[in-house]
Amino acid sequence: MHNAELYSSSHGLQKRDAVQVLTEYIDSMNWKPGDRILDVGCGPGFVTSQELMPRLPADFGLLVGADVSPIMVQHASKMYTHPKLRFVEFDLSKDLRSTSELWTQGFDKIFSFYCLHWIPDHRKAVSNIYNLLRTGGETLLVFLAKCPAFKVYSAQRLKPEWQPYMEDAHRFISPYHQSSEPGEEFSKVLQDTGFEVIDCECRTNEYNYNTVGCLKDSLRAVNPFLDRIPTELHEEYLADCLMEAIKVTERNNNIGAEVTSIRYELIVAYARKT
Ligand SMILES: C[S@@+](CC[C@H](N)C(=O)[O-])C[C@H]1O[C@@H](n2cnc3c(N)ncnc32)[C@H](O)[C@@H]1O
Repeated sequence: MHNAELYSSSHGLQKRDAVQVLTEYIDSMNWKPGDRILDVGCGPGFVTSQELMPRLPADFGLLVGADVSPIMVQHASKMYTHPKLRFVEFDLSKDLRSTSELWTQGFDKIFSFYCLHWIPDHRKAVSNIYNLLRTGGETLLVFLAKCPAFKVYSAQRLKPEWQPYMEDAHRFISPYHQSSEPGEEFSKVLQDTGFEVIDCECRTNEYNYNTVGCLKDSLRAVNPFLDRIPTELHEEYLADCLMEAIKVTERNNNIGAEVTSIRYELIVAYARKT
């Protein structure tokens, strides 16, 4: 997933969920003047700058959008500028020791939207978030437990034509995809790390794509394998993605023949470092 423009034009679902969760939680968070805020897995920076930043108290100190993809960070830095906003490269799955001074000062709030399902080792990621937070700091994490795209990757991974490009497909499937209690499992990871868990739940959500083309664009925008597949095979691969996706989605004929609904499970967690 390195196409910032494509993601920015097909992220309706992710944006809707970020707005919904921010609206629910931002006012209950414990704000103080000068707070340093981190948004991990910021992607092209839209949610960080256009949805999170306007909801922050005016006297916040610094907002850092961080992402493992240099392309996303470049795009975000070019598109969104503000004296208290910065975008940096950062890998939440790696050891923190090699990180810059920015991190050693710590953060008062850490947000993450639609990123953690791409990190297989949640104990490492959550412990990094814990270590990056100052005492009393809070985190609000939103990520997928289950969704049709994970079923698509699992099915394609078994097909001989796509297998060579998808050997590590498990890395891009949420660790809770097969779990019967995703919310409880993630809550335990938070508690074991030392967090006071204020809320942690797994919600079932639904999203309507107005056309099958919109569903295809959104599958393409978040697909982590396309970069490895030769360009001449892209259309064939995407047609296969769409076919597998349609098997596990619902065509909602009451709304209109083209409308395709997807149902997915989203973990929303709010926790404090005491
Ligand atoms: C689906 S995008 C979400 C972007 C944005 N937060 C939003 O809600 O629109 C997920 C982002 O997480 C980033 N990401 C994946 N693994 C990461 C890691 N280990 N550390 C930091 N960012 C990561 C990806 O590069 C991608 O830009």
